[in-house]
Amino acid sequence: MRGVHTFESVEEFCLHVLESPDLESKLVPPRGPDGGRLGEASTGKPIFIDRPARADLIQIRNGSDKLPHLHELEDPHARAVCLERFANHELMAVELFAWALLAYPEMPAGLRRGLLHVLEEEQGHVRLYVDRLNDLGSGLGQNQLSDYFWQQVPGIRASTNGPAAFLCVMGLTLEQANLDFSLLYRDAFRRHEDELSAAAMHEVHLDEIGHVRLAARWLTKVTNAERDVDAYAEHVPYPLSAARAKGRRFDVAARRRAGLSEDFIDYVRHARPYRKTDPSATR
Ligand SMILES: [Fe+2]
Ligand SMILES: [Fe+2]
Repeated sequence: MRGVHTFESVEEFCLHVLESPDLESKLVPPRGPDGGRLGEASTGKPIFIDRPARADLIQIRNGSDKLPHLHELEDPHARAVCLERFANHELMAVELFAWALLAYPEMPAGLRRGLLHVLEEEQGHVRLYVDRLNDLGSGLGQNQLSDYFWQQVPGIRASTNGPAAFLCVMGLTLEQANLDFSLLYRDAFRRHEDELSAAAMHEVHLDEIGHVRLAARWLTKVTNAERDVDAYAEHVPYPLSAARAKGRRFDVAARRRAGLSEDFIDYVRHARPYRKTDPSATR
C-alpha cells in the first residue's frame, strides 16, 4: 500500500530505493514516522552503490534510447514506447538522487533538502507516466530499458568535486535537456489529440524548471565559482557535455526561468557534440 512504509533517516530511505527491486518500493515517499519529509541530517559516512536493484521486468541494460519519430506518434503503441522511455528516465532520476544523497553526506544541508524534495517530485513523475501507460494498455517493462543515466556514475565518482559533477550531470545536462524534450513531446502528443499525455509532459516540464534552478543555484556555491557557465564547463564529466544539455528545439524562456545566465544559455545553444578527432574526447 502506498505511503505506509516510513523511515528513520534519509540514508535508510535512499538504501530502500536503491536496494528494493520492485517499482512500488522505489516510489514510497521519503517520510518519517510523523508523516513529515525526512530531515537532511546524515550519519556522515559515504555509501557508494554501483547499480540499483531492479526486478527482471524493469531491469536496465547497456544502451541508449531511440525514440519513435514524432510523425509516428499517431499510433498509440508508439506513444506508449515514448512514455515508457520517459518513465524509466524518471525512475533512474529517483535512483540517482538517492545515490547522490548516500554518496555525498558532506553536501550542505540546504542542498540535501533540495535533492530530497526533487527526488520526491521524480517519484511523482514516474507515477504520472506509468498511470498514462496503463491507460494506454501498456506498462513499464514492455520494452528493453536503458541504463543511460547510470552510465554517468563512474564519471561523477572520478571527479574531485563529486557534488558539483552530480549537479552538472543530473540537473544541468539531463534535466536541462528535458526542458526541451518535454515541450517537444507535449506538442507532438497534442497534435495527435492525446491531451492526457500532453498534460503529463507539461507538468514534468514545469517541475523540471525548478530542478534545473536548484542545480544551477548550488553549482556555483559548491564550486565557489562566480559564473555558472565556468563551473559547468569545468565539472561536467566526460562523456557528457553541453551538447547533451539540449534537444533540437531549444527553449530559452524555460532556461531563463530556471535562472541560467545568458552566457550559459548561449554556451549550451552553440555546443557541438564531441568529434572522434577532438582531443578532449579521449581523456
Ligand atoms: Fe522528472
Ligand atoms: Fe527532474
